[in-house]
Amino acid sequence: MKRVDDFRLRFGKKELVPIIVGGMGVDISTAELALEAARLGGIGHISDAMVPTVSDRRFKTHFVKDKLKFFKYNVANTDKSDVLFDLGKLSEATHNHVGRTMQAKRGNGLVFVNCMEKLTMNAPRETLRVRLTAALDAGIDGITLSAGLHLGSFALIEDHPRFRDAKLGIIVSSLRALQIFLRKNARLNRLPDYVVVEGPLAGGHLGFGMDWAQYDLHTIVAEIQQYLQSEKLEIPLIPAGGIFTGSDAVSYLENGAAAVQVATRFTVVKECGLPKNIQQEYFKASEEDIEVNTISPTGYPMRMLKNSPAIGAGIRPNCEAYGYLLDGSGNCAYVTAYNLEVAAHPNAKKISVMDKTCLCTHMRNFDCWTCGHNTYRLKDTTRRMADGSYQLLSAEHVFHDYQFSTDQQVALPSAEPESLIA
Ligand SMILES: Cc1cc2nc3c(=O)[nH]c(=O)nc-3n(C[C@H](O)[C@H](O)[C@H](O)COP(=O)(O)O)c2cc1C
Repeated sequence: MKRVDDFRLRFGKKELVPIIVGGMGVDISTAELALEAARLGGIGHISDAMVPTVSDRRFKTHFVKDKLKFFKYNVANTDKSDVLFDLGKLSEATHNHVGRTMQAKRGNGLVFVNCMEKLTMNAPRETLRVRLTAALDAGIDGITLSAGLHLGSFALIEDHPRFRDAKLGIIVSSLRALQIFLRKNARLNRLPDYVVVEGPLAGGHLGFGMDWAQYDLHTIVAEIQQYLQSEKLEIPLIPAGGIFTGSDAVSYLENGAAAVQVATRFTVVKECGLPKNIQQEYFKASEEDIEVNTISPTGYPMRMLKNSPAIGAGIRPNCEAYGYLLDGSGNCAYVTAYNLEVAAHPNAKKISVMDKTCLCTHMRNFDCWTCGHNTYRLKDTTRRMADGSYQLLSAEHVFHDYQFSTDQQVALPSAEPESLIA
């Protein structure tokens, strides 16, 4: 019976354990988590979502405070078109996050950065170019393009000296999305180094409509594989979404996948950026506690725990401090929804906005508990302690469980003395 460890992901001469820990913004897939995956011989992701915010928290910089101070005059204004990012500071923040992560890297594996196109930051092309360029300058091993079709992203960095040596990949959820990407980038004579095929059971934003449940990852992977074969394109395929055990992973690797990308099981490890009390919410969740809804202003459906504080909250938009989802003309679906609600209840002290959420503020505060479909199975991957809480795992434990387990088994961690767990 095969194990994940019987396979290797090959990038040129480099051989890696075919396990990729997916990007989870905002700093849920921390540098510590990504570095563990790399140390163990796989690939870890950091995320550049809200990177000035992440830099402030990690390195005591003041990007958010300075931006808010600069645009303070606009806070009560419904028109957010003035609120632009300082590109120099954005670059500095990316350098801080990526550079320091890469300096700390040990072992044989790689660290990539997940870069979401939907973070349009009120100047989509300019800010994306800065984020991609700064990550390459700061020595990132690879960039995974996500949350968007990224039709122009390769072109934004085609003159960068690392354009052909850094690993560049894209996440798609359909053959059609991949075909459009390849067609639009044909003139660059540079194929993606890998394609992550993300199915409907993933966490975060989904590349499907609300009919997501009608799709199946195995089928999409097979379709894309057939197409690549017929076009004689050798691009490593990396399925993602719902791969919960080593055996699940093997079922893809045996059919020709180059690696798997996983995330949900790493949301309950100590190296993950989620606060400990929220990790307990992930452990506790039952299947009925998880929903896919349309409250993300990006326009993509998103999966989350139903008890996320972000759902129905009616906070004032915080674009002067954040503004990551402004579309380039100062619009964000949450700002619109909020303004409508305020207009409908002019005298209310507190309002509730049901149809959209202020994703920037809530992701920043870990109040939007986005999660994969299989989150309800996390409780079966650990031990319950005397006080009823669940024991957190280590990234190494989960990584090795994927790498070495067989027979759909999940290894429980050895029991920790409860005094060490606090
Ligand atoms: C909490 C959480 C946050 C996520 N955030 C992002 C993100 O910011 N960008 C992204 O491309 N994918 C994101 N994802 C998707 C993962 O990178 C990954 O592809 C997917 O969840 C794998 O499926 P699994 O969680 O069932 O293992 C997120 C997943 C989770 C669980």
